[in-house]
Parts: sequence; structure tokens; C-alpha cells
Amino acid sequence: MQALPITIGEALQLTRQTLLSSGRAASEDAVLQESELLVSKILEVRMGRFPKRAELYQNLLEEVSPQSWLTTERIVNRRASGEPLQYLLGSQVFLNHDYRVASGVLIPRPETELVVTEVIKRLQSRTRPPKMGIEIGLGSGVISIELLSAFTNLRMIASEVSDSAAAIAEQNASSILKEGASRLQLLRARNALEVFDTFRENSEGIRADFLVSNPPYLDLSDEIETQVLEHEPPLALFPVSMDSLHFYAEISRNSKEFLAEDAEIFVEIPSNRAEQIVGLFETEGWQVVLVPDLTGRSRALVAHR
Ligand SMILES: C[S@@+](CC[C@H](N)C(=O)[O-])C[C@H]1O[C@@H](n2cnc3c(N)ncnc32)[C@H](O)[C@@H]1O
Repeated sequence: MQALPITIGEALQLTRQTLLSSGRAASEDAVLQESELLVSKILEVRMGRFPKRAELYQNLLEEVSPQSWLTTERIVNRRASGEPLQYLLGSQVFLNHDYRVASGVLIPRPETELVVTEVIKRLQSRTRPPKMGIEIGLGSGVISIELLSAFTNLRMIASEVSDSAAAIAEQNASSILKEGASRLQLLRARNALEVFDTFRENSEGIRADFLVSNPPYLDLSDEIETQVLEHEPPLALFPVSMDSLHFYAEISRNSKEFLAEDAEIFVEIPSNRAEQIVGLFETEGWQVVLVPDLTGRSRALVAHR
């Protein structure tokens, strides 16, 4: 037990030791990086903003109050027992913005950045900028909010079934988009099985320029990290029907009634089921393009008529 009070430097050292001895770390570098971020939270309280890395090291000799260290120590212990760093820090960077995240909402992933980058690229290459988009499964709001930031005349209608996710998305929309948040309309899904009912009830007659979704698509037979299974919301990971293709089947079958003739569909997909998902869309008369990630695995699908 370290005598209190301690310095920022000692807090960093203790945090590093705790994380290293938890045996969960991918590498020493990862442990150091996480320790820096967790200890930076102490300075964040003092400075009123998250410190830069250099500022952490400039403050190594600063004293940490016993109360502040006890709070940090509790958080470090939660990290050592496997809670995702992003939930403990309360944020995750996604493309151009820092998003608030908390348990109850999926932590945004780099695969989804690939999808959003592809959507922006394709929408920018159109002769007419997009006016209306649909998103299914808003989560923290990363997809809709990045698109609304990229296209200033765009409006998005996005559905979400989870109360916690909806609340966080609304916070992210107002902190990132400011008054532009009014261009995001949130529709609450009645239950997790229904995909389009809320659009039928609330947005009858819309003809959107595109539909985008990173739906729940995991299958129990997939290899899934324990940290994900233990901490991230099941509603964001698995379709409640336990058919991992549920959302793709729904979207390929039912989205036409909400889309303009020249609209495109963009969905994130699990690479190991790409062929089946292509099959679902082609059966419904869509022409399909797969978008690979940097390792060559198909992680996004674009469909048009
Ligand atoms: C994989 S997460 C994606 C979240 C966010 N769009 C992202 O990319 O980080 C899927 C989201 O869909 C929501 N969801 C699940 N079933 C739904 C349904 N039937 N209608 C609307 N949203 C649903 C979940 O609560 C979750 O927030």
C-alpha cells in the first residue's frame, strides 16, 4: 500500500503496475498508453479539460489528493478486471469528433469509420447533394452525426430501440452539431425485432436518398472477445431473433418503400457472412458492391437498384 498523498508520477507508476499484473494487456505499450489516459483524468478535473500528453508529463511532481487517488484507483481496478477503457474514460474518438460513450451504448469501431468514409465518398460524388438519409440503429450517433457534419443540408431520420443509446446519441448530437442537431430526427423502435414499423408510423411517404446501418449482426458461433460479451449491450451485438442475418433480410426486403428510385443502401457486414448477405440483397433485386477493409476483408456492402 502506497503512503498517501502521492504524485501524478507515482499514480502513473501504480496504475501501470496494476494493469500489467492484471495480465489482460495486449502489450507494455498499450498498458502505458492506457495508464496515461486514466491518470490524465485526475488532471482533467483540475484543468477543466482533458490534458495533452505533454501536460501530463509536465505535471509528474504535482500532488494528487488522497480522495482523487482513491477515485482513480477504483477506476483502474475496474479496468484491470476487464471493463472497456472507453466506458471508464467516457469517450471515444470517431473520425472527426470525440463522442461520449457509456455502458449501454456500443463503443464505436474502426470498421464503422470505414463504412462512413465510403458513404461520404459516394454521396459527394453525386451531382445532387443528399437531402434525406435514414439510419437504423443509431447507437451513440456516430454515423448520423458524422454525415450531418459532412453535409450541411442533410436531414437524418434514425431509429433506436435502447433508452440509454438514445439518450447518449441526443447528447452527442447537441454537443457536436450544436443547432444542427435539429437536422437529426430520432425515432424510437417499439421493440428490437421490428426494423421498419417506426418509420411506417412516423415517416410515412418519405423518399430518402440513402439508408445506412451498422446493425446488430453477431452470431453466438462467432469468436467474440470476453470483454465485449461482458460489457457491451447485447441489443447492439445480437439480433434478438438470434438470426444474425435478421437486419439484412429486413433491409433488403422492406427498405424500398422509404427510398428514392436512385437511393443507395450502405450496411456494415461481418466478413464471414458476406456471401449470404450479398445473396439476400440480390434476391430482392439489388445490385451489390462489397467494400474491403485494409486487410482485404469485406466489411461494408453498398446496394442500389
Ligand atoms: C451495432 S450497434 C450500432 C450503433 C452505432 N450506429 C454505431 O455504428 O456505433 C446497433 C444499434 O442498433 C440498436 N437496435 C437494435 N435493434 C434495433 C431495432 N429493431 N431498431 C432500432 N435500433 C435497434 C441497438 O440498440 C444499437 O444501438
